[in-house]
Amino acid sequence: MKFTDLTRREISSLPVYQPGKPTELLAREYGLSLDTIIKLASNENPLGPPPESIEAIQSTAAGVAFYPDNSGYELVHAISAKYGFSPEQITLAAGSNEIFYRLCDLFAEPGAEVVVGEYAFISYRIAALLAGAKLVPVPMPDLIHDLDAMLEAVTPQTRLVFLPNPNNPTGSALPVSEVAAFARSLPEWVIFCYDEAYMEYQDESLDVQSLIDDGIKIIGTRTFSKIYGLAGLRIGYGYSDPDLAELLNRVRPPFNTANIAQAAAIAALSNDSWIKMSREVNNAGRQQLFKGISEAGFDPIGENGNFLLFKVDKATTIAHSLQEMGIIVRPLAGYGLPDLLRVSIGSESQNAYFLEALSKVTS
Ligand SMILES: Cc1ncc(COP(=O)(O)O)c(C=O)c1O
Repeated sequence: MKFTDLTRREISSLPVYQPGKPTELLAREYGLSLDTIIKLASNENPLGPPPESIEAIQSTAAGVAFYPDNSGYELVHAISAKYGFSPEQITLAAGSNEIFYRLCDLFAEPGAEVVVGEYAFISYRIAALLAGAKLVPVPMPDLIHDLDAMLEAVTPQTRLVFLPNPNNPTGSALPVSEVAAFARSLPEWVIFCYDEAYMEYQDESLDVQSLIDDGIKIIGTRTFSKIYGLAGLRIGYGYSDPDLAELLNRVRPPFNTANIAQAAAIAALSNDSWIKMSREVNNAGRQQLFKGISEAGFDPIGENGNFLLFKVDKATTIAHSLQEMGIIVRPLAGYGLPDLLRVSIGSESQNAYFLEALSKVTS
């Protein structure tokens, strides 16, 4: 008898999360030197974290023999001081991804329904199916979440609705006024997870706190993996009504966030000018990529976050050819979008190198 004969039924049909290919793997596969590889596949910050975070990592390193503070007191209070949520509202997690899984642990039991956009970030889908719930994917015309259709998909069995704004991989974003109206229309038995992974790149953000204050069952999720440049440390958080935070804290594993990660995140919150600079680099990089991709004969899509998409025949083959030249981008076949390539916005020189390679492999 095989292990797979013994697993829970939902495991066999679980989609597998496909991460951007690690640079080390590509170096091994193609015999390339690591420092010649450019990864534009996981929407990371090309500037990395602010210097304060590096210092905090170095000065915390000697303490790794000890378990971290399980309550993450200092980081929780730093988040609270910066954004005005009370410490009781905050749940720390090993990346915002973990919050999605914990929400499903709490609410997505077999028989429950979880509503997601068909091209929404794939983690929600995996977390819901893993928990044994029924997934209700809602069509996204023109790659944009359709809030009316999502509302119509809600039934008495619905327990969770996930909405990333902007969404990855489609890069689409909805006006926050529409999201607020949607949140207010949901019935009281539905928990609304509003994923703000790319919020720092956006000009407007939803006032999640006022919805929480009005008794709407919403949780905002945020990450240090994107603009804060700390993806490798796996740290993010949710903020919600304290009752929900208490439940989430009950089901998360003890010590789920590392002491180095907590320290680096606290330091990252203190450097607003790094965030401003990262946004500026991102905006300039988007223009550079839009121009270059258009000149190469393709139509770039995506005004949000730190990535964009374009349509190209045989996107997966093109991605492989780019890999042979040391450039990692993300084909979206796994999302059911086989003719789209997603490219993260890199530094000026990374973008230029990518554009040069794109022209070569597509001409
Ligand atoms: C929309 C969205 N939400 C959440 C995440 C997960 O981020 P984290 O690294 O905090 O788990 C990502 C990462 O790519 C994302 O694109």
